[in-house]
Amino acid sequence: MAQVDHRFSPRDSSDQNFDYMFKLLIIGNSSVGKTSFLFRYADDAFSGSFVSTVGIDFKVKTVQRHDKRIKLQVWDTAGQERYRTITTAYYRGAMGFILMYDITNEESFNAVQDWATQIKTYSWDNAQVIMVGNKCDADDERVIATEKGRQLADQLGFEFFEASAKENVNVRQVFERLVDIICVKMSERVDVQAPPPSSSGQTPGTARLLADGTPRLPQKCC
Ligand code: GTP
Ligand code: MG
Repeated sequence: MAQVDHRFSPRDSSDQNFDYMFKLLIIGNSSVGKTSFLFRYADDAFSGSFVSTVGIDFKVKTVQRHDKRIKLQVWDTAGQERYRTITTAYYRGAMGFILMYDITNEESFNAVQDWATQIKTYSWDNAQVIMVGNKCDADDERVIATEKGRQLADQLGFEFFEASAKENVNVRQVFERLVDIICVKMSERVDVQAPPPSSSGQTPGTARLLADGTPRLPQKCC
């Protein structure tokens, strides 16, 4: 299981060629498709077999948004209840969450409220959340209407997408939207600080912490 300092973005990855680093988490019930969603995004691949995640894992992907290179460190959490203590320990440093349910599984939808409460309890106040109804390719097995998903998202104050890791529907769009809303929120509460030089001599602007524990980014991050 990978370990990081929860307060700061790790700087030990070989790719130092980025402007900012965002830590994101994917959460939701077991089998909703969190690992598949990340696998599709990071590796553009999909597997129909189900290997339930043990604890937590992450992948890194660097994206270009506007004129900045943003390194995303995306944490894929285990949905199974028995890992909850481990996974919630990772919430605090996250700047964004993808809260996922499965449109073919009512229980996973009914659990969304509880996941939202977990975010409120364990994360920073200004963490951004996108709610995703995954498996929209399986429309014949659908039990949660799109409108029902949207209504709950509205009620919770989250943006909403339906997506499919299998058919590659709205996967990249969800990540891009999350990056964009993080950028907007962060630049609303900036407190400019020159980032320290990295070992490579470059000065990537990692998310740093304000005194109240919220991340700070240099102005006009995106
Ligand atoms: P945990 O690790 O236990 O929390 O589960 P998970 O949320 O990571 O689920 P995972 O990605 O392992 O997917 C569970 C099952 O759903 C697998 O059999 C996947 O192939 C399938 N699956 C994932 N995404 C989709 C999708 O978009 N459409 C369909 N039809 N199946 C999917
Ligand atoms: Mg998984």
